[in-house]
Amino acid sequence: MSDNNPGTDVPSSDPAADAAAVFDLLIGLVRAQTLRGVAALHIADHLSDGAMTAEEVAEREGSHPQATYRLMRAASSIGLLSYEGDRRFGLTGRGRLLSSGVPGSMRSLVLAQTGQALWQSWATFSEAVREGRTQTEKVLGMEIFEYYAQPENAEEAALFAQAMGDLSGLVTQGAVAGLSTAGVSTVVDVGGSNGDFVLALLEADPSLSGQVLDLPHVVEAARGEADKRGLSGRFSAVGGDFFVEVPPADLYLLKTILHDWDDDQCTTILRNCRSAMREGGRAVVV
Ligand SMILES: C[S@@+](CC[C@H](N)C(=O)[O-])C[C@H]1O[C@@H](n2cnc3c(N)ncnc32)[C@H](O)[C@@H]1O
Repeated sequence: MSDNNPGTDVPSSDPAADAAAVFDLLIGLVRAQTLRGVAALHIADHLSDGAMTAEEVAEREGSHPQATYRLMRAASSIGLLSYEGDRRFGLTGRGRLLSSGVPGSMRSLVLAQTGQALWQSWATFSEAVREGRTQTEKVLGMEIFEYYAQPENAEEAALFAQAMGDLSGLVTQGAVAGLSTAGVSTVVDVGGSNGDFVLALLEADPSLSGQVLDLPHVVEAARGEADKRGLSGRFSAVGGDFFVEVPPADLYLLKTILHDWDDDQCTTILRNCRSAMREGGRAVVV
């Protein structure tokens, strides 16, 4: 029995149940693309005012009515939509998270994770493990963040940054509540994307100044977000490379950063934080 690894507490005495479980794991790819379908075809947005038929959705969206009906049935089977009878579908609480612009929206996250760049890259995962490289190298010809930095991929990069904001929304509130800023005057969000985490800390503690360090093509969005929240006076965004150096601070935030890199690369990032850190400083890994 393990709290962290739910797979390990499953008894394997029943081959049919095991086969069903493996099939269920495999079919995760269909579920992921069903999520994508609901997000990409704005189905959650169309249903936000009330239940509709697939034909009504298809007319609004310009999609194929029969195929839209099948997608909506699939979406009901995994709890994203509710079947209301009479060929009408409504939105469930889960499905609402695929709407645009609602609090807690996960739409961008779904679109980024199931989009071409990441989806095709995951298809080469086992080869990447065999060869000891990242799976994006073969498919995209480069590391994912380099790919997003290419001007021709700006739209995908913006979607990814928005997705990171969505992901942050799931944990930021709890992380901010659990994090003491006593004795801290400057916080650097290392690879902070659009700055959601550090900006939430600045909102919670008016004595703090904060920075985002991220790749040059990302930081403009962080400045915009600070402006929007009226925090520009205590915030700046630095375009740079955390493998080279990070700005001085009392507190470093590394949220959803270290999982992207191998141990040596993580050590470099953490060493750079250590050498720029002010006396008595800390780094927080989320
Ligand atoms: C998985 S995202 C996490 C973003 C943010 N911390 C969050 O939790 O939402 C990783 C971030 O690291 C940034 N990044 C990648 N390589 C970087 C580098 N060499 N220097 C600075 N930032 C980098 C990416 O642009 C991206 O914003």
